Amino acid sequence: MNNAEKEAYLREYDILKKKGKPFFPYAVTKDSAMFLIVTLVIVALALILGAEQGPKPDPTTTTYVPRPEWYFFWPFELLRVIKPPELVPIATVGIPTLCMVLLLLLPFYDRNPERRPERRPVATIAGIMTIIAMAFLTFLGATAGSPTQIDLEVAPQFEAGKQVAAQSGCLACHKIGDNGNDGPGPELTHIGARLPAQAIQRTLINPSGIMPPYGDLPPEKFDSLVKFLASLQ
Ligand code: HEC
Repeated sequence: MNNAEKEAYLREYDILKKKGKPFFPYAVTKDSAMFLIVTLVIVALALILGAEQGPKPDPTTTTYVPRPEWYFFWPFELLRVIKPPELVPIATVGIPTLCMVLLLLLPFYDRNPERRPERRPVATIAGIMTIIAMAFLTFLGATAGSPTQIDLEVAPQFEAGKQVAAQSGCLACHKIGDNGNDGPGPELTHIGARLPAQAIQRTLINPSGIMPPYGDLPPEKFDSLVKFLASLQ
């Protein structure tokens, strides 16, 4: 801002200040009144319509698929994309913290007095890119398959078994391809190369350690599950 601009600004500020009303009590009264109205409306809505709480939690369900609220889809998608465990803290803590710090420090590193977007190309483009990136990640997160899904290409005859594995909670303890948790069970990506179908079947019926038995799956599902696992060479 050059001196002439500064003087013009101060003159205008002076005029406006003489015309205006003091913040206290005028603005404070107005804000308080509006705050009270909004609160009363929310209380009234809660009393009349009640709050939607969804179905009761069922601790015995094993098919529940946890999903974040829509406004968390973008970090959810970031986490899906970033697979190596050492990079996860960067995605969950690092990137959001960095963004917060950048926003917090904005008045210090951006001293540009210009307010029109078209005269501030860097800030405008950075803002638009951020919005596009978040919208894109939100879209991907919203349309992503559920975490109980196994992204492996298998021959059509093993698809059914893949579904059974995905929906039986195996991924909670086993890694299959890119999906599932790294433990407590061993990775199953190449289980077929390590164990013959017979041994897999025995493990599923009579597992050792903390693994629950799966012998009471319907026979059809059980067979397709064993076939799928044995095919993982
Ligand atoms: C609660 C965790 C848990 C769940 C759920 C689970 N497993 Fe396991 N699984 C384990 C553990 C732990 C072992 C290792 C047991 C041991 O070595 O004593 C294991 C071992 C195995 C083995 C033998 C692996 C080997 O290399 O010997 C197979 C095969 C297997 N699981 C398949 C499955 C399948 C298929 C499912 C889903 C239908 C499943 N598991 C669900 C924990 C689990």
